[in-house]
Amino acid sequence: MNDLSSVAVDGTAVRTGLFIDGEWQPSASGATFPVYDPATERLIAEVAAANADDARRALDAAHRAQKSWRKTSPRERAELLRRTFEIIQSRSDEFAAVLTAEMGKPLGESLGEVAYGNEFMRWFSEQAAHVEGTFGQNPAGQTNIIVTREPVGPSLMITPWNFPLAMGTRKVGAALAAGCPVIIKPAALTPLTMALFVEALEEAGVPAGVVNLIPSDRASVISSSLMSDARLRKVSFTGSTGVGSTLLAQAAEHVQNSSMELGGNGPFVVLSDADVEAAVEGAITAKFRNGGQSCVAANRIIVHRDVAERFTEAFVQRVEALRMGDGRGDGTDVGPVIDGKQRDRIATLVDDAVAGGATVRVGGFVPAGAGSFYPPTVLTGVDPGSEISREEIFGPVATIAVADSDEQAIEMANDTPFGLVAFVFSQGLDRAFWAAGELEAGMIGVNRGLVSDAAAPFGGIKASGLGREGGAFGIEEYLETKYVALNR
Ligand code: SIN
Repeated sequence: MNDLSSVAVDGTAVRTGLFIDGEWQPSASGATFPVYDPATERLIAEVAAANADDARRALDAAHRAQKSWRKTSPRERAELLRRTFEIIQSRSDEFAAVLTAEMGKPLGESLGEVAYGNEFMRWFSEQAAHVEGTFGQNPAGQTNIIVTREPVGPSLMITPWNFPLAMGTRKVGAALAAGCPVIIKPAALTPLTMALFVEALEEAGVPAGVVNLIPSDRASVISSSLMSDARLRKVSFTGSTGVGSTLLAQAAEHVQNSSMELGGNGPFVVLSDADVEAAVEGAITAKFRNGGQSCVAANRIIVHRDVAERFTEAFVQRVEALRMGDGRGDGTDVGPVIDGKQRDRIATLVDDAVAGGATVRVGGFVPAGAGSFYPPTVLTGVDPGSEISREEIFGPVATIAVADSDEQAIEMANDTPFGLVAFVFSQGLDRAFWAAGELEAGMIGVNRGLVSDAAAPFGGIKASGLGREGGAFGIEEYLETKYVALNR
């Protein structure tokens, strides 16, 4: 039976139970699900699998905890988050080792994610005590208008596998700072890092019921059972647009507040006046961070014809030098993709693009041997209408298309239902700002291949989602506005 037990993952003990109402515990059914190391495809843990009864118990606990948690002082919440930040910082190596073991990203990148993810805890510890309201007078002078902010209430966080810590801290940090208790449903492929995070919150002294963790391999059972209960007041999801639409439809029944960080199809635009070397470095970051498994990855590289050859040759050379391997060792730039299913999906997208006329300049094959590896790949001559240009690749495959003018490059960039991120390279300030204004996305990287920052609002427009996470906007997602009319 899986109860208070833990498992050793690369030397770090990780809890494998559910965490409900301040207690680590087995699932109601005793069921578990397996977690694999993508670099070896070996089993590394069996984790308790929550079912609908567990989900209900977690909501009972969160609902009870809400009464007192919302009344805690902002300072108390800030200090809890700050203590958690310090615990995570002191255990960075352990978090990174577990992250690499379950998700596959190279250790250096895992350390980067721990620093990035933990920054949300520090950021929201600083935001907790800065929630403001307003005080005014109505025009007729009869009433004072007092506007205050109040926590939304029990919140469900459904987090993805690609950034198992950072996508949790970005949601949970904001919710706790605002005074909302949370129920976390981590991705079934990567539940272990989240267990470490919850353990850090527990050690920091989070009250019982304020944080609940219900891993499960049956995500829709958990979300449907929680969202059909009107006591749940918020759902925050990071994942595909398809699942996001389903959750929004479910949220309609009880008008639950919703934040959706959904799919992207990020264009990376190199304008005619770009610094080509800088653009190549930016593209390496934007494409190969996390092995391309990010919704803010550059999905389509679009280069002005004047610089296309120079850019492509230099980019291909840089990609040829990237080393793929088990991320535990030194000198790995790109780890495995998350699992065999994802590797096969990427391989099909590449094969179809090649059948449609694209040219493989680097990579483009499934290597023999264990582990769900797909090599860093560059395709040129990619048809903008092809599947690989329309779909989110979510892997280490770069596609390059050529535009005849800067205007056409922007037009090609915007030719997608998504609008999460766009990157543009130009040496002219006017040109860069013109492009940033024209690009249809919630986030624009100008002359850089990375936009993610705890202090900035992360989120998209169009089919890429609703709401923003991080920055001063992040806490707003967990606050309601209350207006009090005071008779003068
Ligand atoms: C994501 O891929 O969902 C988020 C990546 C980031 O925060 O940088």
